[in-house]
Amino acid sequence: MHVYALALEKGGVGKTCLSVNLAAAFSRLNLRVLLIDLDAQGHASQWVGCTTEDLRPEDSIIGVLNGRSLADCARETDEGVALVPAHSAMAGLPVQLAGLPNSGIFALHDVIEQIRRPVPHYDIIVLDLAPARGPVLATALAAATRCIAPVQSEDLVLRALKALFDSVAQAKRINPKLRGVSIIRNRYAPRSAGDMVYDQTLRAFYGAYLMQTTIPIRASLRDSAGLQQSVFRYSGSDAVEVRNMFLDLVEELISRDGVV
Ligand SMILES: Nc1ncnc2c1ncn2[C@@H]1O[C@H](COP(=O)(O)OP(=O)(O)OP(=O)(O)O)[C@@H](O)[C@H]1O
Ligand SMILES: [Mg+2]
Repeated sequence: MHVYALALEKGGVGKTCLSVNLAAAFSRLNLRVLLIDLDAQGHASQWVGCTTEDLRPEDSIIGVLNGRSLADCARETDEGVALVPAHSAMAGLPVQLAGLPNSGIFALHDVIEQIRRPVPHYDIIVLDLAPARGPVLATALAAATRCIAPVQSEDLVLRALKALFDSVAQAKRINPKLRGVSIIRNRYAPRSAGDMVYDQTLRAFYGAYLMQTTIPIRASLRDSAGLQQSVFRYSGSDAVEVRNMFLDLVEELISRDGVV
């Protein structure tokens, strides 16, 4: 079972976009996928068609931290991906975690271990994180097997990457299964002068961590969100091209991490 944490402190870089579409891509390969929305904004939940109005806090990760099993909280979506949805009460998660043993650092790790045995319920777990550092990120990294960071051509992103690498280095001390960070260049336009300069910097500092597959700006990634569909269900004109990019990303991840 691979656990992918989509994280970066910088907002709006594509964490949720990649969480949803990577989860959908894995599920198209007949893998059993669980998407856990760890962001109180609930964008990933909405993107896969789960409107949060009728949800109770205990339907979210809050319920899991209070003793419900992940499998119990997971609901099916039209994407073929199971979802533990977000609830706005998750804004209080850092406080809730602080009240748990070891400041809740192993809370997610432990509930994922529960569904790993005797036979794993899922092949892939995708964690969509809020644009923040702090206890929720630490808890996610303590449970993850890989951290995936989407980046765009911006200075602030480089600073956020440095902070993320620090968080991952700390998490590795308590989580030997955490392989490290993979960086995905999102909204990538290598012919633009700005992106080329930025790309050189990124290669110089983080070359070993860059995924080969890059994601350009595409209308289907913007528009599918409003229709609450991944690109695998959305039928916009560039959807087929974008689906193939996500399948390439999945192939690259499988070649790094092994089949599940
Ligand atoms: N490659 C892309 N092409 C076009 N639109 C994109 C692309 N990547 C992301 N978007 C759009 O950009 C917006 C921000 O992306 P997204 O919500 O995934 O970022 P995020 O990192 O999850 O943000 P936050 O930090 O607030 O959680 C969304 O509306 C999304 O649809
Ligand atoms: Mg997001």
